[in-house]
Amino acid sequence: MNQRIVIITGANSGIGKVAATKFAAEGHHVVMACRNLERSRKALDDIRLQTESDQVELMQVDVSSFASIRRFCPEFREKHARLDILIHNAAYFEYGKKEYQLSPDGIELTFATNAFGPFLMTHLLRDSLKKSDDARILNACTDNVMHFLDPKRKIEFDNLRGEHRDNRPYSVYKMYGDSKMALLLLTFKLAEEYRTDGIKINAIIIPGVKLSTETRKKLSFRYRFIATIMNPFWLPVKVMANNYVHICTDDGFRSVTGQAIGKKNSILPPARQQSASDKIREFITFGYVPKYAHDPGNVETIWKMATELIDKPT
Ligand SMILES: NC(=O)c1ccc[n+]([C@@H]2O[C@H](COP(=O)([O-])OP(=O)(O)OC[C@H]3O[C@@H](n4cnc5c(N)ncnc54)[C@H](OP(=O)(O)O)[C@@H]3O)[C@@H](O)[C@H]2O)c1
Repeated sequence: MNQRIVIITGANSGIGKVAATKFAAEGHHVVMACRNLERSRKALDDIRLQTESDQVELMQVDVSSFASIRRFCPEFREKHARLDILIHNAAYFEYGKKEYQLSPDGIELTFATNAFGPFLMTHLLRDSLKKSDDARILNACTDNVMHFLDPKRKIEFDNLRGEHRDNRPYSVYKMYGDSKMALLLLTFKLAEEYRTDGIKINAIIIPGVKLSTETRKKLSFRYRFIATIMNPFWLPVKVMANNYVHICTDDGFRSVTGQAIGKKNSILPPARQQSASDKIREFITFGYVPKYAHDPGNVETIWKMATELIDKPT
């Protein structure tokens, strides 16, 4: 087996940490790209101890900040001649915040963390990925995007820079789903753009996965309560972490790109959303990609916004 160089954002807890452990245990070189070095050093020590690997390192990045990403990427390129696997796992989600928050770049915080930050990081690491003979990017998405099976559901494109922060109801839960839909739209478009470089890019549609105690502590009381009740019914973290590793290393996925991948590592087909029976089946199974994600107008809107945002000097 060839050793691959892997970046995992948010590798200090939850799925990211368990995936980092598995990559390290399999002999790969893992870069844990985390925002809080103090918290993450403990995770680094745990992983090194558990795997007896000296091939795990920690680098600081806040994926909600363009300046931080612009610091991280050259630092990575200085240290490593290529990048084989990039996993955008870090996310800001449902912590029960009531007020609209902006990132340092003036972007709604959920979008900055879950969509535009990963987009910039992907863009800045493109050359490193090109040097791999089997480069793969995996975007951590969520089955929350299935809300887009409802034809009325739309991304609030007009409210991603604080435009309506004072005069429109704000739901971080909805913004989270919107931001992950944006990530899915960007996944499809990036796959086309990067095809000629041999870089594959897919999204994994993650269902409820058990939240670690440390993750639950970040939630507001209400959501901590919900997560505590639901936790026994959710998938073990290890299952999803194994899926990350499988999609990023298995030969079966070597030429797969531009796909949404479900919890059993199957490629999700587009939803038809035509007959009543389609709609019921698609809603119940959560096994289809909502039409919204393949709509060229939506792809174009998010692509234009993302490229304009990252082109601005920070
Ligand atoms: N668990 C689920 O049920 C579920 C369901 C659907 C999708 N997902 C997706 O799965 C992925 C992993 O989630 P998880 O359940 O493992 O949650 P988690 O344990 O909270 O992991 C999220 C990680 O992201 C990091 N992070 C957040 N904001 C960041 C930023 N600005 N810069 C750098 N890192 C940042 C967190 O770091 P800190 O420790 O510093 O906060 C944490 O390490 C996420 O993309 C999530 O949306 C999870």
